[in-house]
Amino acid sequence: MINKLDRRILAVILILVRSVSGTTGSGGDVPLRCDEYDSMGFMDVNEAFCTVTGFTVTHSQNIVIKNIPPGNMVKFMKFYESTLLYMPFHLFETFPHLKTLDVSNTNILELTRNAFSAASNLTYLNLAYNNLTSIQTSVFIGANVLMRLDLSYNDITTLSVNAFCGLHTISQIFLTGNRLKELHSDIFKDNEYLEKVSFEGNLLTTIQPEVFRNMRRIKEVNLSNNQLIYIHPDTFAEAASLENLVLSYNQLRNFQLTEKNIVHQLHLDNNHLTNLTINATRFVRASHNNISELILHQSLHIETLDLSANRLTSISNITNITYMLYLDVSDNPIGPLNVSTFAQLKRLRGLNLRGTGIRELKFGMFSKQKYLEELDLSFNNLTSLNLDMFVPYLTNLKKFLVDGNELWELQGNRSFSDTFPQLQKLGVSRNRFNCSYLHHLLIPPSLAESVVLNIEPDNNLEETPHIRDVSCISRSLESLNASFTAEESALESHIQRLSKQLEIVGSHSRNLELHLAFMQVFAYVLGGIVLVAAVTLVTLRYLKNQRSGRYDRSSIVFHSTATMDATMTLDSDQ
Ligand SMILES: *[C@@H]1O[C@H](CO)[C@@H](O)[C@H](O)[C@H]1NC(C)=O
Ligand SMILES: *[C@@H]1O[C@H](CO)[C@@H](O)[C@H](O)[C@H]1NC(C)=O
Ligand SMILES: *[C@@H]1O[C@H](CO)[C@@H](O)[C@H](O)[C@H]1NC(C)=O
Ligand SMILES: *[C@@H]1O[C@H](CO)[C@@H](O)[C@H](O)[C@H]1NC(C)=O
Ligand SMILES: *[C@@H]1O[C@H](CO)[C@@H](O)[C@H](O)[C@H]1NC(C)=O
Ligand SMILES: *[C@@H]1O[C@H](CO)[C@@H](O)[C@H](O)[C@H]1NC(C)=O
Ligand SMILES: *[C@@H]1O[C@H](CO)[C@@H](O)[C@H](O)[C@H]1NC(C)=O
Ligand SMILES: *[C@@H]1O[C@H](CO)[C@@H](O)[C@H](O)[C@H]1NC(C)=O
Ligand SMILES: *[C@@H]1O[C@H](CO)[C@@H](O)[C@H](O)[C@H]1NC(C)=O
Ligand SMILES: *[C@@H]1O[C@H](CO)[C@@H](O)[C@H](O)[C@H]1NC(C)=O
Ligand SMILES: *[C@@H]1O[C@H](CO)[C@@H](O)[C@H](O)[C@H]1NC(C)=O
Ligand SMILES: *[C@@H]1O[C@H](CO)[C@@H](O)[C@H](O)[C@H]1NC(C)=O
Repeated sequence: MINKLDRRILAVILILVRSVSGTTGSGGDVPLRCDEYDSMGFMDVNEAFCTVTGFTVTHSQNIVIKNIPPGNMVKFMKFYESTLLYMPFHLFETFPHLKTLDVSNTNILELTRNAFSAASNLTYLNLAYNNLTSIQTSVFIGANVLMRLDLSYNDITTLSVNAFCGLHTISQIFLTGNRLKELHSDIFKDNEYLEKVSFEGNLLTTIQPEVFRNMRRIKEVNLSNNQLIYIHPDTFAEAASLENLVLSYNQLRNFQLTEKNIVHQLHLDNNHLTNLTINATRFVRASHNNISELILHQSLHIETLDLSANRLTSISNITNITYMLYLDVSDNPIGPLNVSTFAQLKRLRGLNLRGTGIRELKFGMFSKQKYLEELDLSFNNLTSLNLDMFVPYLTNLKKFLVDGNELWELQGNRSFSDTFPQLQKLGVSRNRFNCSYLHHLLIPPSLAESVVLNIEPDNNLEETPHIRDVSCISRSLESLNASFTAEESALESHIQRLSKQLEIVGSHSRNLELHLAFMQVFAYVLGGIVLVAAVTLVTLRYLKNQRSGRYDRSSIVFHSTATMDATMTLDSDQ
């Protein structure tokens, strides 16, 4: 009995579990609840919010919003670590007061028509970091008071000409990091209150001037990191107060707007400009171009000018801009400076002259820069530096860089600390100071320990001696080492030469021995031949004489007796 009951209970539980997992696992509705929910706003009704974490929908499921009272005042809603795929249905009907919706990074694939038809209080919509590939016609209809729309970092390749239809009050649209190749000239026809727009990091090659036609209020346009080759001079003709224009990292060869000025910031760095026209802009960045000519209008407004890595040979058009605060002309082939070159730049705070081919500094050159805080003179092949020339003018200097020159000592009678009482950063690396001298330069009282040292990276991987990480030349050691190794190598080569000679002599002697042996053999053979010849001759003569009888007989007799004697002695022995 008990067993049967148990089984029944188990079966019921199993069925329940199956049905529950069935609704959440495949197909059907998924309930959406707020994890953190403050329907009325704890302190302030404007702070009522709902956040959802770890909510995941698959392709075959629908989101159903549950247990939310109709009178809720939720104004802010955000999803964390969630996958939505589509905008939840009836979201704005459930939260009629929603002002801010953040559905960034939720794998949204597509925005369907009417998704925002009830979003009548929505002012900020964040759809960044999703998987949108296109924005269809009129999808935002209903979001009548939307102010800010962020569609950055999706995969958007097509924008319908009516994508932003109905957004009559919108002031900011961000499309950074998508894959747009072109913009329809009527894309913003409904958005005359647009103030800020970004297409940074797309694939745009041209912008038709009509795109910004109606935008009288546009203040900031960010088009950096595209492939723009041209901006029509009338592009911002209607804009009454264009403040910031960012065109960095494009392919522009020419840039000039007709009868227009950009008030705050103009960024044109990393293009292919050969000349630069500026009309009353406070901050201009135009580094990494090929600029050799500067055409300035209302130049007294210019405060910051970054022209580094260009081809300027003359800076005469900028050295009379008396209100300039920051000037960077580093890495330009400017060449020698005159004593009076900077005489009018009395307000300068920062001056970068790195890699400009200066070679020599003269007394009086920086005598008007009493507000100067940063001076970069690195990589200029300076062979001498007299700190006296900066006294008593550069008392506010905080950063002084002379790295990468040919300095081996300081002329004059002053240390860095004496010269620049406010110094915070000093660069003296990659010069020719010897170690004892550098030690004296970089240790108190010549230099306060609090001063940070700039170190320019050196490709030389060899270990070098250094003082406070600034490498130096250890003269005595180096020269000693050098002479040692020189002598050593000289000796070695001597020895080598000698041993070679010895080898040669050895081989010669071996040759000689061979010759000698050969000669010996030859001599023996010759001697033998001569002997044989002589004997034959004598024998022949004797025979001849015998035949003719001219020979003495006694000798033969004597011979014969000797032979006899010998036989006799032999006999007696036996
Ligand atoms: C929300 O929009 C409705 C109109 O759709 C309006 O009546 C209501 O006042 C709005 N609420 C807020 C808080 O703006
Ligand atoms: C969305 O894009 C991300 C990154 O490209 C990818 O990992 C993810 O799987 C995509 N999601 C869907 C639902 O396609
Ligand atoms: C350009 O826009 C992007 C975002 O859209 C922003 O992060 C970047 O800072 C902007 N650049 C400038 C110079 O304002
Ligand atoms: C410079 O800008 C002013 C508006 O501030 C404009 O009237 C003038 O025509 C511009 N000059 C040039 C040369 O574009
Ligand atoms: C500058 O011009 C040279 C040749 O005239 C070219 O090789 C180089 O790429 C150009 N640099 C830029 C930044 O346009
Ligand atoms: C600037 O350079 C461009 C391209 O080389 C050229 O078309 C333009 O006429 C130049 N502008 C001035 C004012 O010299
Ligand atoms: C200096 O400005 C004048 C007039 O604007 C211009 O003609 C000249 O080419 C400029 N020179 C340099 C080197 O930029
Ligand atoms: C600077 O000098 C140039 C000529 O080199 C002149 O056209 C320009 O008006 C001067 N600018 C100022 C602010 O004096
Ligand atoms: C130095 O003066 C000469 C002659 O006045 C001038 O041509 C040159 O442009 C000046 N150089 C600098 C860097 O100011
Ligand atoms: C500076 O010296 C380096 C090598 O010592 C040389 O390659 C470079 O051309 C010099 N620069 C100038 C502007 O003389
Ligand atoms: C060097 O400086 C010291 C004080 O710092 C001063 O007493 C001395 O007279 C100076 N010598 C010369 C040659 O200027
Ligand atoms: C180090 O350099 C200083 C300044 O040039 C010089 O007076 C000194 O003799 C040098 N010392 C050595 C050991 O070479």
